[in-house]
Amino acid sequence: MQELEWWKRAVIYEVYPRSFQDSNGDGVGDLRGILRRLDYLVELGIDAIWISPIYPSPMADFGYDISDYCGIDPLFGTMADFDTLLAEVHRRGLRLILDFVPNHTSDQHRWFLESRSSRDNSKRDWYLWRDQPNNWKSNFGGSAWEFDEKTGQYYYHSFLKQQPDLNWRNPAVAQAMFDVLRFWLQKGVDGFRVDVMWLIIKDDQFRDNPPNPGYRPGSPSSHRFLTVYNSDRPEVHAIVAEMRRVVDEFSDRVLIGEVYLPVPELMTYYGKNLTGANLPFNFHLLQCPWSAPAIAEVVGEYDRALPQGAWPNWVLGNHDQPRIASRIGSHQTRVAALLLFALPGTLTLYYGEELGMTNVPIAPEQVQDPAEKNEPGIGQGRDPERTPMCWDQSPLAGFTTGVPWLPLGDDHSCVNVAVEQQASASILSLYTKLCALRKTHPTLVSGQLQAIQVEQNVLRFRRSGAEEIEAVLNMTHETITVPLPQGTVLAATHGDREGQTVTGLATLRPAEGLLLLLA
Ligand code: NOJ
Repeated sequence: MQELEWWKRAVIYEVYPRSFQDSNGDGVGDLRGILRRLDYLVELGIDAIWISPIYPSPMADFGYDISDYCGIDPLFGTMADFDTLLAEVHRRGLRLILDFVPNHTSDQHRWFLESRSSRDNSKRDWYLWRDQPNNWKSNFGGSAWEFDEKTGQYYYHSFLKQQPDLNWRNPAVAQAMFDVLRFWLQKGVDGFRVDVMWLIIKDDQFRDNPPNPGYRPGSPSSHRFLTVYNSDRPEVHAIVAEMRRVVDEFSDRVLIGEVYLPVPELMTYYGKNLTGANLPFNFHLLQCPWSAPAIAEVVGEYDRALPQGAWPNWVLGNHDQPRIASRIGSHQTRVAALLLFALPGTLTLYYGEELGMTNVPIAPEQVQDPAEKNEPGIGQGRDPERTPMCWDQSPLAGFTTGVPWLPLGDDHSCVNVAVEQQASASILSLYTKLCALRKTHPTLVSGQLQAIQVEQNVLRFRRSGAEEIEAVLNMTHETITVPLPQGTVLAATHGDREGQTVTGLATLRPAEGLLLLLA
């Protein structure tokens, strides 16, 4: 197990820094807050922390609009705070992954200020300027082209107009961005999660996208067209391979890509001969219907499609997706946890999922997310999954002493770390157990995935390596009797069967799952 690179064994934990822990009472989480909670993460048993952007930013998209790639936004702290955090993360044997946002800068970045200052500025070509817009849409609603009065041209923005897209066909852009990677790698960060990796380069002829025949009124306006010419372009792979070469100038680092694509296209992001991303994020569990046949299908498809030698990974939540408890129902969250930890490869968890946090309803006057503000009421908002981490029963859940930037969930007096740490049958105890099991049973990390089966909406599959482990997951609300192989229960959703030996017919309670170590 030790011979596997650290990131292959890792459970990665995403910290959305605004919402994790506030240390100065301004209602927004910060680096010193994260530092204060490192021991909690060690107890939970995760291996690496990925922090969403902490760089100077006007915060139009809460940090995904960066105005200086090599600094720290004062809202989150100072570079000295960052250096302390990195050292303390490493001292505890954890790793630190940063967010790298290469597709776009803030419109306040000095590169863009120069670029928009005149048509003959040396940075003009660092962004995408055109005399006429085409039909490409912004992911946050409306046209992706913004007219600039002063210079009489339009610039392209995949997201907000405050997030102009960089021109990755310009080698100077690529070099400047690679130097950003080197800046953080030299500091000792352990890798990057690359924002919208599949969008970085666009069609060089800016051809119009074809209409989407599946578009339904009421869906986001960006769905009107198929994103044939502004996403997943063939040239992207050369850029990813270059990024990977930069990361590999340093030893023991990881390159992870945010890629929302169907499985066959996703696999191409491992790159030719695995020279691309080490881990193109696999979001398919977040998108597939929560039923045993659908999950069996996705798990099988992904496993079969993995290129030779490519390392699998599974993600259960992130800052752009509804909380798993709200998507599949709170009663199924433990089944989801068991499923995730029974799957092979690297796992990624979103803060608060280990507590069973749910989406928090956000009243119209509380909305922060620009995606919701631009296209209200059609489910685009991401505030519900970004609400503060709940640490204890105090009125502000231990998150802040000020006014939290987003409201706390109504259930925070029972869904919180302090309460759940005391309860051996809590979902937090289950996650803690599962993290520990990955260390004591390496078959869970690297064993072959086999025998995926569905019967009566019970999903089962095996992992075989030094041991044989079987996952049996009742994905229904009913009690179901199933035959079990002879074995010992390693982990159980309900927290009351560990250590039992099983064999023959067994009754699974509603939403009950077991991990069995076979005899
Ligand atoms: C993907 C990020 O995860 C999301 O939060 C952000 O809004 C967009 N990229 C734009 O950077």
